[in-house]
Amino acid sequence: MLLEVSDLSVIYSAGNKVVRAVNNVSFDLEKGEVLGIIGESGSGKSTLANAIIRAIKPPGKIVSGRVIYKGKDLLEMPYDEFRKIMWKEISYVPQASQNALNPVITVYDSFKYVADSHGFNDEKALREKVSELMKLVGLDPKRVLNMYPFQLSGGMRQRVMIALSMLLDPELIIMDEPTSALDMLNQELILKLIKSINKEMQISIIYITHDILNVAQIADRLFVMYKGYMMEDGKTEDIIKDPLNPYTQLLISSIPPLKGEIKNINVKEDTSYYVSGCPFLSRCDHAFERCKELPSVFLYKNRKVRCWLYEPHGA
Ligand SMILES: Nc1ncnc2c1ncn2[C@@H]1O[C@H](COP(=O)(O)OP(=O)(O)OP(=O)(O)O)[C@@H](O)[C@H]1O
Ligand SMILES: [Mg+2]
Repeated sequence: MLLEVSDLSVIYSAGNKVVRAVNNVSFDLEKGEVLGIIGESGSGKSTLANAIIRAIKPPGKIVSGRVIYKGKDLLEMPYDEFRKIMWKEISYVPQASQNALNPVITVYDSFKYVADSHGFNDEKALREKVSELMKLVGLDPKRVLNMYPFQLSGGMRQRVMIALSMLLDPELIIMDEPTSALDMLNQELILKLIKSINKEMQISIIYITHDILNVAQIADRLFVMYKGYMMEDGKTEDIIKDPLNPYTQLLISSIPPLKGEIKNINVKEDTSYYVSGCPFLSRCDHAFERCKELPSVFLYKNRKVRCWLYEPHGA
């Protein structure tokens, strides 16, 4: 197992208000696997990613959990040791990363900055490596490396960020909404690129998005989140064909058809500021008495699902 996240919880607190952004989240990631983390805005996806890479800042706080990478807890190890793993083994493409490049330095200097800070000082080797990466992501190194971020389109900047995340040959890349700011055509191109990075280089990927259709094209497994809770975790194929959790069912029924009429979907507004119970309770058509209590996670049809409908009976 490459990465094992267990019981991870993160809160943000301001005064007497506490937002439970990530609640007791657990999942495993195998080497070479693509895990899609999917959920609507505010479901805690970026917070989860930030917790894994120790980037939660006040008022945020990790209140429980372990993040075991190759047998060692990233959250427990001394920061110096963790820093050596970051970029070299685990890298990160942040949300809105097309705006994350330093605007006052050239594209090449962004690579050089990351290289320098990890002791990669051989300028000639660096030039070669960067050119190779630029070609891999479909950019012309001669043209692009001397440019400034503002001279690039959004799609080009996103490609640069992906190339940058690969500079030190990581084993795992965490990508937060890597295509959400792009037009459909560029989305498809970036997805294809990510797929090839995964297949050809055996790099594991955690791919975060709110777009289930988008992620279903590349993820081996999907991890569905709602209000900081894991709602369903299983093989992409199984989840798309036969979603178990009513929330996953809603996500899938809301995928617009390629042709024809848009179905009349019944999306209830979230009216609850629930205190306890199932996070999806106020929107769920299947809710019953039991749902006033937070559902446990059940194993059902080769999946993990947080929903009382799948509680085994008569066991
Ligand atoms: N710095 C912060 N301070 C206070 N609350 C925060 C902070 N960052 C996130 N939150 C809250 O934590 C919850 C989860 O936010 P998060 O950004 O992780 O969600 P997300 O799933 O990444 O959403 P999006 O799809 O919009 O990027 C939300 O309720 C959000 O308001
Ligand atoms: Mg986010």
